[in-house]
Amino acid sequence: MVMDVLSYGIGTLIGFVLLLAVVFVFLSDVTQKKHAVLRSYPVIGHLRYFFEQLGEYFRQYFFAGDREEMPFNRATRGWVYRLAKNEGGTIGFGSTYNLREPGALIFVNHPFPVLEEERLPTPSLRLGEGYAKEPFEARSIVNISGMSYGAISAPAVRSLSRGAALAGCWLDTGEGGLSPYHIEGECDIVMQIGTAKYGVRSSDGQLSAERLIELGRFVSAFEIKLSQGAKPGKGGVLPAGKVTAEIAQIRGIEEGMDSISPNRHRDIGNVNELLDKVTWIRELTGRPVGVKTAIGGWRFMNELADAILRRGLACAPDFLVVDGGEGGSGAAPQALADHMGLSIDEALPRVIDVLFEAGIRERIRVVASGKLLSPARAAWALCVGADFINTARGFLFSLGCIQALRCHTNTCPTGVATHNKRLQRALVVEEKYVRVANYANNMNREIDMIAHSCGVRHARELRREHVRVVQASGQSMALNMQFPYPEAKPRAAR
Ligand SMILES: Cc1cc2nc3c(=O)[nH]c(=O)nc-3n(C[C@H](O)[C@H](O)[C@H](O)COP(=O)(O)O)c2cc1C
Repeated sequence: MVMDVLSYGIGTLIGFVLLLAVVFVFLSDVTQKKHAVLRSYPVIGHLRYFFEQLGEYFRQYFFAGDREEMPFNRATRGWVYRLAKNEGGTIGFGSTYNLREPGALIFVNHPFPVLEEERLPTPSLRLGEGYAKEPFEARSIVNISGMSYGAISAPAVRSLSRGAALAGCWLDTGEGGLSPYHIEGECDIVMQIGTAKYGVRSSDGQLSAERLIELGRFVSAFEIKLSQGAKPGKGGVLPAGKVTAEIAQIRGIEEGMDSISPNRHRDIGNVNELLDKVTWIRELTGRPVGVKTAIGGWRFMNELADAILRRGLACAPDFLVVDGGEGGSGAAPQALADHMGLSIDEALPRVIDVLFEAGIRERIRVVASGKLLSPARAAWALCVGADFINTARGFLFSLGCIQALRCHTNTCPTGVATHNKRLQRALVVEEKYVRVANYANNMNREIDMIAHSCGVRHARELRREHVRVVQASGQSMALNMQFPYPEAKPRAAR
């Protein structure tokens, strides 16, 4: 009897202590600011970190390898997280990267790499120099690709804006218009003009000259979006559940209804109309104007180059953003996401070559995007000939994204792509904006490190001969052999 009472008492005490421990963990989880998952899922969220740690030891028996997940494998995500947390890109024991897999990148190490005192800072480049009244001096190689306020949350946009200001990179608004959150950090802003013209349209849905002039006072450049790699031929899609009153007001649409942009700009139906629009916006606002597009074949680029040569350099876009078919999206039809548009690996070399051949490479700056979120992939794009790198999902990871693939459902567990206030608590702007800046800075730094190992003084000196790509045979081929630099041809010979 006494024993029964005693064991009952001990059981109750243990239960009480356990309950206290759970309450304590719960309270410390919801109040801490570093881990998004724990803020959204207190106590139970620890399982993620537990399994993540166990994975280090057991993954070779039970789980997919380091390099097997899509769209981004664990090794790549881990790299980005470390860059964002300023933990360096250092690994131990050895690489899990397979140097024999087709597509693997191998940079050409120089026998006598550049010494610290021989290195040069990577120079900034001016967009629209000599053509726009107010050229834009772009300082960072790596920049934040367009993601609309709507697709991502207010705390996400605020962190990106403040992080961009700290790192000195630009923030592209995406096609959802300019929100107060974009301007919070006072960073350089590239204002995207999507097919629905959100943020720059008049009450009847036309491109508004007054609005452009107004915006031109504080954005650094405009970008006409023809398409994005994840869904060429389809305009932006914001599911009804994400169209809050505020987003509806910024876009000039109805709250709680699907926000679907037209497939293309109604006022831009061919290359000539595109160049007309570029010139008009640049003259009206004084700002550089670029074009963002996915590439399906070579016709568009050939027609663009021909039209620029025929009409004169003044009508050319100041920059071209080439988005690979592997690009991400807040919401895209699978048919287009899986099967439409060339990968950046195929599109970028040909785009650069067309510009070289036409002798207009210096006139048009090239920005590349499409899974270029590691220093190595970004350095590859520079070797091909890009001037800048845009990444969207690299910066999402820096905000704490865990690749839950739920951007379109308004249930993002880390508060990045949801307007649910409870889930948004997970994303603490004060913490995350620093990670955004760290990621941009460390990307730039590690790209430079690759350049120095290749024997050049800074990232802008990287050339095709500095990288080799592994072919189906398992042997690598220098990029300048795979895609030889073309000669600039006289116009008549084209
Ligand atoms: C959540 C999300 C929203 C996006 N919204 C836009 C957009 O509004 N306009 C646009 O041109 N691209 C948009 N994109 C595409 C990105 O800007 C980028 O071109 C593409 O994801 C490739 O870069 P990444 O592979 O580094 O993510 C979006 C991508 C994501 C992931």
